[in-house]
Amino acid sequence: MEGLTIDFPPLPLPQGREYFVLRCDGQTRNVSLHDYDAIFAIPGLYEEVFRERLRCESGEVVSRAISFISAYKGMSIGSFRLLEIGAGNGVVGQELRRVGVGHLIGLDVSNIACEAAWRDRSTVYDDYIVADLDCLNEDMDRWLRKKIFNGLVAVASLGFADVAASAFRRALSFIQPKAFVAVTIKEDFLRGDDRTGFSQVFGDLRQNGFKQVFWERHIHRFSTSNEPIYYITLVLTNLT
Ligand SMILES: C[S@@+](CC[C@H](N)C(=O)[O-])C[C@H]1O[C@@H](n2cnc3c(N)ncnc32)[C@H](O)[C@@H]1O
Repeated sequence: MEGLTIDFPPLPLPQGREYFVLRCDGQTRNVSLHDYDAIFAIPGLYEEVFRERLRCESGEVVSRAISFISAYKGMSIGSFRLLEIGAGNGVVGQELRRVGVGHLIGLDVSNIACEAAWRDRSTVYDDYIVADLDCLNEDMDRWLRKKIFNGLVAVASLGFADVAASAFRRALSFIQPKAFVAVTIKEDFLRGDDRTGFSQVFGDLRQNGFKQVFWERHIHRFSTSNEPIYYITLVLTNLT
């Protein structure tokens, strides 16, 4: 990107503590990879850091999953009415539109993410809600329930300091009974010894009639010290 440089520290850091060194306008500062507000505030910086430098491909993987579920359910992608949680600046939403999703509402806790989505991808979302899924007010809860979503999407937004398992459960309550759920999630959060609560949420979904119809392990991105970070793309749908 013109006018700024991005460098990664040489030492391996745990996911959640990674950062990059940003030199911009004669100033140098460390920016945490989880400081989305700082990143979204600069047009193109999220794309440069995550997609170009750290080779994140989650958007493409989830689009494949959406095409799969369309064929599986015998529904056109145009008939999908999706809620995308932790939507960020719309990189994933853009992919969902590219494959033909008919109706798309983004939701994110960050006002700066919302502004970045309208700034950089003004035609992607039908609506974009700024709200914390952990503490939605009643009006917003009611509004979301009326939207008749037939799918929920969460890409790289579950866990760490982002959408917690309890907040994800809340989002699940907004979708229709036969809807599908498509997520990309760190593989550790699906293991039996997981402590984040996500493994339990997916177990409960299966207990409630959801069937896992798509599973793909993939490199979500590379770490700042160039190690692959694996995520799972999962799609579950309720057949009962
Ligand atoms: C890693 S970013 C992913 C952005 C986008 N899904 C992508 O893959 O490009 C995680 C996003 O989740 C949002 N987020 C974190 N906690 C949230 C919450 N409680 N409710 C809604 N969004 C949240 C953050 O603001 C951030 O935009």
